Amino acid sequence: MNREDDGVNAVVVEALTKAYGGKTVVDGVSLTVREGEFFGLLGPNGAGKTTTMEMMEGLRKADSGSVSLLGSSPQPRNTALLPRIGVQLQASAFFERLTAHEQLVTFAALYGASTDRVDDTLELVGLTEHSHVREDKLSGGQRQRLSIACALVHDPELLFLDEPTASLDPQARRNLWDVLRGIKERGKTIVYTTHYIEEAERLCDRIAILDHGRVVAMDTPGALVGGLGTAMSMELPEGVLGVDELLSLPGVDDVRTEGDRIRITASDSNAVMRALTDRGAAGRLRTRDASLEDVFLELTGREYRS
Ligand SMILES: Nc1ncnc2c1ncn2[C@@H]1O[C@H](COP(=O)(O)OP(=O)(O)O)[C@@H](O)[C@H]1O
Ligand SMILES: [Mg+2]
Repeated sequence: MNREDDGVNAVVVEALTKAYGGKTVVDGVSLTVREGEFFGLLGPNGAGKTTTMEMMEGLRKADSGSVSLLGSSPQPRNTALLPRIGVQLQASAFFERLTAHEQLVTFAALYGASTDRVDDTLELVGLTEHSHVREDKLSGGQRQRLSIACALVHDPELLFLDEPTASLDPQARRNLWDVLRGIKERGKTIVYTTHYIEEAERLCDRIAILDHGRVVAMDTPGALVGGLGTAMSMELPEGVLGVDELLSLPGVDDVRTEGDRIRITASDSNAVMRALTDRGAAGRLRTRDASLEDVFLELTGREYRS
């Protein structure tokens, strides 16, 4: 890695591997997170997101490969990095019986940071009105926001969040998206994991799709979807037209049966539409813009099930 890269890269990961009990769970992951970027590690449960992220943070030791975190190696334990990074673990823990405000004062003290930022941090995560509520009285979404605040109170430049939106109801998830966007607007670099495809598509500047411990694709959401070669996903219910007939239509590249539907991959969706109209089948066609879900299917041959 040269000096020029050091200035713009918050994290550089090269060929990381990790095995548990002889089973490889992170299998040669390489990726780069740029300063100021909102970077997503997206993958189904068990893909290796947490293991990868904790090796980036220096919390787990890799079997092989290297991590550069803000220009230094986090392993062996590098305490000089700690004030510069914020970490929210997948299972968050609070001090018992403290209010939101007291939690943050305590976390600030642990970091040796000023308590001046406590109120500002509560505001950033939308908890100003709950600052004197005890942590165990907060809703799930509010607790998630408090745990992000705990990782932010010492004003780190780089924030790691492990599934911050998991198991929240849709409204609480949306509120959290606004919080995350606000943090990015303050110039922070964010690395986060999620198993929600459409969320990663909305929030992230770049996404690494992880499957079975490998990065199967890494790019901006637009480039990932655009790289599909078909801008639209087309589906017909089974039985409308046979697979062989569909394959013979102009513009059709591939046809795949998925349950009771047939998914059509087309390089020329207009030509397919015309051909289906001629056969009286266009009314049964369901189309939508291609999404990361289609990218995952194309890359892995499996439907995305998180
Ligand atoms: N400490 C551990 N000991 C044994 N197996 C583990 C440990 N941590 C993770 N694994 C296994 O590694 C795989 C990847 O886990 P993880 O990184 O938590 O995935 P994700 O965060 O994507 O759900 C899973 O099969 C999990 O059971
Ligand atoms: Mg995980």
